[in-house]
Amino acid sequence: MHAYFAEIEKKLELMRSQNRLREVRENSGKDFSSNDYLCLAQSQFLKNKLCEGIEKFGAGSTSSRLVRGHRDVFAIAEEKFSNWINSAASLFVANGYAANTGLFSSMGPDTEFYTDRLNHSSIIDGIRLSGGEKIYYKHLNMNDLEMKLKKKSGKKKVIVSETVFSMDGDVAPLDDLVTLKKKYDCLLVLDEAHAIGIFGNSGNGVAAEYYRDVDYRVFTMGKSMGMEGAFVSSTKQAIAYLVNTMRTFVFSTAPMPAIAWCVPDLIEKVIAMKEERSRILSHAESFRMQLQQAGYDTMNSRSHIIPFLCKDETQALKMASTLSTQGYDIRAIRPPTVNQSRLRISIHACHSRQDIDSLAQVFATGGF
Ligand SMILES: Cc1ncc(COP(=O)(O)O)c(C=O)c1O
Repeated sequence: MHAYFAEIEKKLELMRSQNRLREVRENSGKDFSSNDYLCLAQSQFLKNKLCEGIEKFGAGSTSSRLVRGHRDVFAIAEEKFSNWINSAASLFVANGYAANTGLFSSMGPDTEFYTDRLNHSSIIDGIRLSGGEKIYYKHLNMNDLEMKLKKKSGKKKVIVSETVFSMDGDVAPLDDLVTLKKKYDCLLVLDEAHAIGIFGNSGNGVAAEYYRDVDYRVFTMGKSMGMEGAFVSSTKQAIAYLVNTMRTFVFSTAPMPAIAWCVPDLIEKVIAMKEERSRILSHAESFRMQLQQAGYDTMNSRSHIIPFLCKDETQALKMASTLSTQGYDIRAIRPPTVNQSRLRISIHACHSRQDIDSLAQVFATGGF
């Protein structure tokens, strides 16, 4: 056997001894952990729509969009999506990871990326692939960002942030980001992965009203939209450039056309889920209050994502396992995904008030 396999066995052993080894497992219990915030993934509406799309277009797209993989439904989905989120144009790709790695890498090495310390790995990987310089600023800290932006380099500057942060559930200060972007002549890119469907008047994200000042927005359909796929939205010219240069678009088989077929009606469905959006956010608020009253710190969560910080990996795993025996699916999130181990609780449209209060009670009484 090659020595490499002995090496990786040692690495796995180290992860195991640190309680950082990850293994996939079948899901069971009430879902407080997935990103299916609007409970659409299992909806009859999406199942029917997807089957209809498969009947119409077949299963696979058969090649990249620039070869034979394109269908009109992709362009229709892109236009509908752009109208929804107030953008001139959008590009549909396989998933949010491909959207971010493709977008940032297309910006090239003559770029300085100012990236929030807690931005998602797909953003970081895209920056790495670009060959440009990665400059972290402290999480949501606009003073730190400004201090870093002041240094002149002659390269183009790009500020990148999630809008709703995936692990902390806090929200980026868009007014301040726009002010700094203008003051220091930067491009601004926002990742709306966890905001789409939940924030915005029509569920069109935190940044929909800032469309004039944000250069690129990235949205995945893998979370509240209940499917997979993602959109990068910007000007017509910027999207035409991505069609030519974005490697995850050019060199990858197009997503299933049946997914694009679902998009227009799915958007209408999400727009109509106003009541669900406000219920999710009010349930989240109530859950946070109950945790705080029990003496727990919910950090700066302002959304449907609520972190419960743990002492260490062992405690996080133990709590997740005890919650599982009580019928809750809540996962331990550990380093290197986050700095400090935690449980990540996500509130969904199909949770009743009783579900929220019962779970809060489990935390409050320390019934682990
Ligand atoms: C902020 C953020 N951006 C991008 C992604 C990647 O999206 P996808 O799951 O569609 O690849 C995620 C997924 O976890 C995310 O949290």
